[in-house]
This record gives sequence, C-alpha cells and structure tokens, in this order.
Amino acid sequence: MSAIGLGCWQFSQARGFIGGFWEALAPDVVQKIVETSLGGGIDWFDTAEAYGNGASEQALAQALTQAGKRPGDVRIATKWMPVLRRASSIKATIGDRLKFLSPFPIDLHQVHQPYALSSIESQMNAMADLVRDGKIGAVGVSNYNATRMRKAHAALKARGLPLVSNQVKYSLLDRTIESNGVMAAAKELGITIIAYSPLEQGLLSGKFHDDPKLIQGRVGPRKLMPQFRQSGLERSRPLIDELRKIGQARGVTASQVALNWLLTFHGETVMAIPGATRVGHVEENVGSMGFELNAQEKAKIDELSRPFL
Ligand SMILES: NC(=O)c1ccc[n+]([C@@H]2O[C@H](COP(=O)([O-])OP(=O)(O)OC[C@H]3O[C@@H](n4cnc5c(N)ncnc54)[C@H](OP(=O)(O)O)[C@@H]3O)[C@@H](O)[C@H]2O)c1
Repeated sequence: MSAIGLGCWQFSQARGFIGGFWEALAPDVVQKIVETSLGGGIDWFDTAEAYGNGASEQALAQALTQAGKRPGDVRIATKWMPVLRRASSIKATIGDRLKFLSPFPIDLHQVHQPYALSSIESQMNAMADLVRDGKIGAVGVSNYNATRMRKAHAALKARGLPLVSNQVKYSLLDRTIESNGVMAAAKELGITIIAYSPLEQGLLSGKFHDDPKLIQGRVGPRKLMPQFRQSGLERSRPLIDELRKIGQARGVTASQVALNWLLTFHGETVMAIPGATRVGHVEENVGSMGFELNAQEKAKIDELSRPFL
C-alpha cells in the first residue's frame, strides 16, 4: 500500500456538525482529487460514517467507479462513530457502510473515537464478527491512547485477529503520540499509526504564515484554533522557515518535506492521510513520496519541532 492515503473528510458535502468543518466540494473537484490521487500512486482512501453521514463514502465510491476502478483495485478504510452508541450499532450500521461504498469492499473498519457506551472488548468482538462474516477485511481504532490500544489488541488477539491500526493526530506541529506512549505501543505491538491532520490542517504548507488573513475566508472552526492565530503562527514560523529552506535545496515544498519526515522518521510504523480541497493539494502531497530526507535534515527538523512533542 502507498505510504500516503487520501483523507476524505473533505468530501462530506458540508453536511452535519463534523462535515461542516469543510466547504462543500463540487462533484467534478472530488472527481479530479480522486483521479489525481490515483495517478500519483495513492492506492487507499480513508473515509467515515461521520463525514456527512455517509456523504463522503458515497462521493468516494462514485468517483472511484467513474475513474474506472473496480473492487480490489484500491483499499478503503471507513469508521463507525461510537458516541452515545453501544457495540451492537457496529453491526446495525455496517449495511449502510457497504451500501454507500458499493461496489467497493471495506478493507479496514475503524472505531472512530474511544467514547462508546459499551466496553472496548464488546466493540472488538462485534468487529471480529464482521471479519468472520466477510463484511470487513480488518479492524482498526482511532484516537485511542496506549492503554486502550493494548485492550483492543488483546481482545482481537483472543479472536485470532490483529489490531491493524490506530488513526491518531500526528504532525510536526503535534508530536504528542511520541511522548504519551502511543507510538511506543504501536511499535511494540506491530500496529500501524495512521497519521491524521498530517499537515496540521494546512499550516505546514506555510500559506497561513504568508497570509494570516487567508484563514478568515475558510469555513469551519479553524479560524478559532490557537495555532491559526497570530501568536500560534509565530510559534511555528521557525519550523516552517526550516522546512522551506530544506525544500528549496531539494526542489520540493514545505508540505512535501513535512509529510516526508512524518513517513520516514519512524520507519514503516507511520502512514499518513492528508486531505485536500484543491487538486493542486493532491498533486503536491503525492510528491512527498518521491524522495527521502537525509539523516541531517531529519535531525534538524526533529530539533525544531521538539516544542510540539
Ligand atoms: N480519526 C479522526 O478523528 C480524524 C480527525 C481528523 C481527520 N481525519 C482524517 O485525516 C484526514 C486529514 O486530516 P485533516 O483534513 O484534518 O488535515 P490535513 O490533512 O493536515 O489538512 C488538510 C487541509 O490542508 C490544506 N492542504 C492540504 N494539502 C495542502 C497543500 N499541499 N498545500 C496547501 N494546503 C494544503 C487544505 O485546506 P484548505 O482547504 O484550507 O486549503 C486541506 O483541506 C481527513 O481527511 C480525515 O480522513 C481523521
């Protein structure tokens, strides 16, 4: 599988509380984003029930079909939203997931958040039943801390299955998982980290540093987040300047350097799922897989991003 998958939250059609984070994208833009991803070597896609209550899943399946893809050509990860629900809802909602993603199978089904009304064991058992019944290929979790990861891993192991992945927030501007035990547990147990918001929602491109007013024109709550305010931008500016410096010497961009660091600093443990609202974003992001930073460059980036550990 490609080191980068496409994050499809942006395909939510601005529907619902979670989907309203991003502007609604026109179908032809979604189509081009998906086709550019495929053309750039991306072979897997991350979506979720919560992204527009299925709107993202449907848009993805439609775009892949229109691009001439058939079941088995690409891999798809989706998620069940556990908030205020019991484990039984995993089986009750799988029909919708399969319908919205049709004709593509669900290669990875993830528990989106740790906050369910049932135990981790019950949720993992429901997921394991879906694997047994051939409805999903594998099981992952998201936003789980190290203790929860271990519980999920043990519950699945009892069913003869691996916990394939933990999807967590991870970028050069948020390295919390390196200090809270999640990265260490992933390495120990052989669980892949799927890094979400790997560009810190666009910040690592440096465009908001160049033009801080840009964020005011974006829909959604990013404009209220401290890292997008002037003081937050000044805090991250030295890192952005260094990413640009390293990038210029290589003929690549700050975003590409940031993604490449994330994918290579911890070896094979980390995959990333940058999202896109423009075709140009994907064109740029796929380019992060075509080179490898040297040890000196990685160390310098490590040093400058340590304030975000
Ligand atoms: N499991 C979870 O709880 C969870 C949470 C969050 C996200 N996710 C997943 O992770 C994916 C990615 O996370 P994310 O969307 O939060 O953050 P991200 O990938 O860090 O940022 C995506 C945004 O950054 C901008 N961007 C992307 N590439 C760019 C480039 N090359 N140059 C300039 N700007 C660029 C675009 O924003 P503009 O439109 O402003 O330009 C884009 O919408 C999501 O699509 C979703 O699948 C999962």
